[in-house]
Amino acid sequence: MDIHQASTLLGGLSPDQFMKRHWQKKPLLVRQAMPGFKPLLSRSALFDLAGDEAVESRLLSRGAKGWQLRAGPLARRALPPLARPDWTLLVQGVDLHNEQAHALLRAFRFVPDARLDDLMISYASDGGGVGPHFDSYDVFLLQAHGRRRWRIGRQKDLTLIEGLPLKILADFQPEQEYVLEPGDMLYLPPGWAHDGVAVGECMTYSIGFKQPTRDEVVRELLSRVADEADDLVGDMAYRDPRQPATEQPAEIPEAMLAFARDAIERALSEPSHLALLLGELMTEPKPNVWFEPADLGHGGESADGVVLDRRTRMLYDARHVFINGEGFRASGKDARLMRALANKRCLTRAQVAQLGAGARELLEQWRDAGWLHER
Ligand code: SIN
Ligand code: CO
Repeated sequence: MDIHQASTLLGGLSPDQFMKRHWQKKPLLVRQAMPGFKPLLSRSALFDLAGDEAVESRLLSRGAKGWQLRAGPLARRALPPLARPDWTLLVQGVDLHNEQAHALLRAFRFVPDARLDDLMISYASDGGGVGPHFDSYDVFLLQAHGRRRWRIGRQKDLTLIEGLPLKILADFQPEQEYVLEPGDMLYLPPGWAHDGVAVGECMTYSIGFKQPTRDEVVRELLSRVADEADDLVGDMAYRDPRQPATEQPAEIPEAMLAFARDAIERALSEPSHLALLLGELMTEPKPNVWFEPADLGHGGESADGVVLDRRTRMLYDARHVFINGEGFRASGKDARLMRALANKRCLTRAQVAQLGAGARELLEQWRDAGWLHER
């Protein structure tokens, strides 16, 4: 992608300008970001997905009993009649289940893959929506079918209504209002309050980008460090041959704190090991993802190259490549080709032929696991 080229998707801004001016800073409304856009899945295909156990879905409705939330899987008969107003079905991770949905995300790859979460598709009957709220997500809200009225605001007061099954702002103060038509798109930075209400039946695609938080990163990385503690720092015991006799037996010796601090610093001291753990974490497939192993023993030499499965997460850093939670050290030509695979999500036959024996062996293992396919 040419990040300096003006883009219809971004209302004539280049990806470079968009990132400088809007990303994490201020909303952008783009009329006809995708001119002539047609839904990638029909309403009934979306309802089918919501009924699938492997798919995360939610049904939200508002009626006499107030807000009601029901978690999926949702059989068709669990959904209200289409003519009933004020309900919405949210289907998460559609890019994992549908090739065209996965392909749609390609248009947004001017943002690092490490930030991407998923494509959520919502269906709403007239008046349906999830209420005024804010997300800790950067999101592109692409109108796919019908119309939706968005009201947005910077919102200082983030107090939520108590006792509801979902997060709804108690005192939403919208500043701007737009009605989106099919093909229109609204970018919202994290923290911007928004309320999207269907004007007649509608479908909205949310391309969401997650922000890892400090506490999450600490929890996740340190638990991985803990799993490898023995290898990282060994099991050397605290020793205190110079411990004098004490008259304050309850006092923790300072040397013990120094020992603990030193052990932890040692466990984290190798910068490239932390990079390895981060990459493994960032490529870990979501819990509901599984791969179909390939039929063994066909393809091979005759294949026209390889392409990553849509569910595969592949990233790299200066020293490693990561795929679906596994990290490998890579350098030289192999690293260059593996990076190309991660960026382009495919390699030509000629590129595959240039890989060293070890890297080609890995490719075969990934193919067998269903992480990539021959084409
Ligand atoms: C939607 O209802 O499609 C969008 C949900 C949201 O506001 O985040
Ligand atoms: Co939202």
